[in-house]
Amino acid sequence: MGTDQLLHDGHGRRIADLRVSVTDRCNFRCQYCMPAAGLPWLDREEILSFEEIERVVRVFVELGVEDVRLTGGEPLVRRDFPALVAMLAEVDGIRDLSLTTNGYLLERDAEALARAGIGRVNVSIDSLQRDRFFELTRRDALARVLRGLEAIGAHPEVRPVKVNAVAIRGFTEAEVERFCRFARSTDFQVRFIEFMPLDADRAWTPDSVLAGEELRGMIEAIHPLEELPRGPSSTARVFRFADGQGEIGFVNPVSEPFCAECNRVRLTAEGRLRTCLFSVHETDLREPLRGGADDAELAAIIREAVWRKELKHRVNEPGFRRPARSMSAIGG
Ligand code: 5AD
Ligand code: SF4
Repeated sequence: MGTDQLLHDGHGRRIADLRVSVTDRCNFRCQYCMPAAGLPWLDREEILSFEEIERVVRVFVELGVEDVRLTGGEPLVRRDFPALVAMLAEVDGIRDLSLTTNGYLLERDAEALARAGIGRVNVSIDSLQRDRFFELTRRDALARVLRGLEAIGAHPEVRPVKVNAVAIRGFTEAEVERFCRFARSTDFQVRFIEFMPLDADRAWTPDSVLAGEELRGMIEAIHPLEELPRGPSSTARVFRFADGQGEIGFVNPVSEPFCAECNRVRLTAEGRLRTCLFSVHETDLREPLRGGADDAELAAIIREAVWRKELKHRVNEPGFRRPARSMSAIGG
């Protein structure tokens, strides 16, 4: 394909990464995401079918998208989810097919996911202590999630397997040492992600963000670190423990925004295209999809929406407006 046909936004960024939320439902209630009582779920007919997801993904891939990440809500609560993975694994042109999960159902599904052709997996674990894991996710499920992590780790063709921890001031400090030990004694990469204002409870304040650099300083005081070269469009700063045992990463969207290199867009479970986590505007793809639009028409709608991708988020600016959706309704 000529480079002029590839998907670009109006700020000169080439868009090559699509995050697909396959359901808005979740079996956890993480404090930084969902309210304890849950959210009103979408009806079944409102969410895209596997065939509709595959069709949209194919159109994006035609436009040059190479990386596809499946998210939720919690993707594994969607019935037959590994069958979707198998469908997408067949799409020519996807270089990287990955999954973000809370791990609760991973012990059940690891085998099927590996067989379906998932390339790599991120598991969200915010605490390595049972009671604190419960406090944050409102589910007493740490042991089960760790078994899920082991189960996917047992498939060497699925790599890397990463553990993501949201970094929250007043909480994550007491996890740092355990996560370091974990990163140093397993081949799972641990990455801290700064808390963003995407929690349904709206408890986020600028002070509640535990900045990546602060965390790194805490770690460096115990374990010297060496920074690894950053990949293009990689959102993480990754460090190797200087003695060669393991890696630890920091995703710092609040303290060090990487908007200038952002190459992603998102598809919600009901088929709306979001060009930024913090978008206040979205583009419906479901109606054209169900109304008989052909691929060229879908591609034109996508191009037009992507062209208007936001220059950057304004989390640190006065007058910042939070999006109406919380993370579970967007797709991490
Ligand atoms: N800030 C940062 N990360 C979040 N996630 C969910 N909500 C937030 C938030 N408010 C993360 C989850 C998971 C991914 C889907 O998004 O921990 O790793
Ligand atoms: Fe569920 Fe993920 Fe939100 Fe936690 S962060 S409530 S696991 S969607």
